[in-house]
Amino acid sequence: MKFGRQIMATKTGVSISLSISNSSSLHLSFALLFFLLLLQRFTLVCGLNYTYKQVSSLRLERIQRHLDTINKPPLLTIQSPDGDIIDCVHKRKQPALDHPLLRNHKIQRGPTEWPKTKMVKENKEDGRERRARSGGGGAFQTWRVNGTRCPKGTIPVRRSTVNDVLRSKSLFDFGKKKRPILLDRRIDAPDVVSGNGHEHAIAYTGSSEEMYGAKATINVWDPSIEMVNEFSLSQIWILSGSFDGSDLNSIEAGWQVSPELYGDSRPRLFTYWTSDAYQATGCYNLLCAGFVQTNSRIAIGAAISPISSFSGSQYDITILIWKDPKLGNWWMGFGDNTLVGYWPAELFTHLADHATMVEWGGEVVNSRANGQHTSTQMGSGHFPHDGFGKASYFRNLEIVDTDNSLSAVQDISIMAENINCYNIMSSYDDQWGTHFYYGGPGRNPKCQ
Ligand SMILES: *[C@@H]1O[C@H](CO)[C@@H](O)[C@H](O)[C@H]1NC(C)=O
Ligand SMILES: *[C@@H]1O[C@H](CO)[C@@H](O)[C@H](O)[C@H]1NC(C)=O
Repeated sequence: MKFGRQIMATKTGVSISLSISNSSSLHLSFALLFFLLLLQRFTLVCGLNYTYKQVSSLRLERIQRHLDTINKPPLLTIQSPDGDIIDCVHKRKQPALDHPLLRNHKIQRGPTEWPKTKMVKENKEDGRERRARSGGGGAFQTWRVNGTRCPKGTIPVRRSTVNDVLRSKSLFDFGKKKRPILLDRRIDAPDVVSGNGHEHAIAYTGSSEEMYGAKATINVWDPSIEMVNEFSLSQIWILSGSFDGSDLNSIEAGWQVSPELYGDSRPRLFTYWTSDAYQATGCYNLLCAGFVQTNSRIAIGAAISPISSFSGSQYDITILIWKDPKLGNWWMGFGDNTLVGYWPAELFTHLADHATMVEWGGEVVNSRANGQHTSTQMGSGHFPHDGFGKASYFRNLEIVDTDNSLSAVQDISIMAENINCYNIMSSYDDQWGTHFYYGGPGRNPKCQ
């Protein structure tokens, strides 16, 4: 699939109707008319799927000004074969440091401590292990195929384009998670952010213990997305605060397919955070100030490759998020011992202390655009009972405890809003510890 990215200028007439009731609104109306006449130079921008949008030059200028603040001047630029442009940006010039709370922030090189791991029994590989390959710190991202590396002292940043912004509802919405309606806390339901068409198939911990992080290995697929403004993601949530208030803190990471955010249907590594229940704070990746990246080989928001195929090779990624016991920053690890970066403690309120819930699993947006349930897939697009090689999985679910030790999650609960659309099935064995299969096709005869 190829998406147009050219910008064409055209002249378009403006037609407005005025209703004048008194002299002050007359002045206003003429001011408006004058303003609109100034904007007669409109521009047609060819966005995703060749849908043409009319964009005023004023709006384009506003977008460009915003892009100039998040696209930092690169020391080197790498062209990825998938069309992404990766800018190698000096670490100290990265977007995070524009955050008002991080003006005097000293970039950390690493955590003061990694979580301690319990001794794991060395078992013989079983069939799944032989066929599942983990993306380590190596070339698991498409842009790395180019062969060019970012120089020392820089980090790779996926460049945002005018089209990236134009696909979102507004400049304000760009990079933000669509604001889900927060459901009231129900006794028998997990604290999941539901509603507004967001559907989940997730596993979650009880809220009786204090948690300082979580880990899982996530199978990577490329679920198909029906509508441009829908997405399908598979991730870990680290949560604190209440779901019925406006101060929920959330740290999220995993892979996502989002045509709106990226302009294609590739699964991409992503991070996300909010400290006010998905309202004004936070964003995906490095699209706003917040997340501090330390890794010079991993580009957040870049496509993951290779990906799993039905009844074929399986690929997964391992993500660990934990709180530095001394400095309070929330670090993200990738693979066995690669650091990606961290969410500084300053960004959070509740998470400045500990997490009260961890969730793992899938989320899709069902916009019911045609009056029917979306056919956007979750996971591999197959139901959990299809098992290994067909259904998507999360394996070796672990949490980080008060002691900064990783341990297998003992008791998890699972939930899916509509099991005929997307479902989840959890299990335990020596190799994969606590694990689950999840996902589904969305629309089908039982899910309309
Ligand atoms: C890698 O990126 C550079 C810089 O954009 C470009 O000149 C070069 O042709 C690319 N190489 C490959 C193999 O795509
Ligand atoms: C793209 O356009 C075609 C034809 O109009 C339509 O069938 C398809 O659903 C669109 N794709 C997306 C992702 O919106």
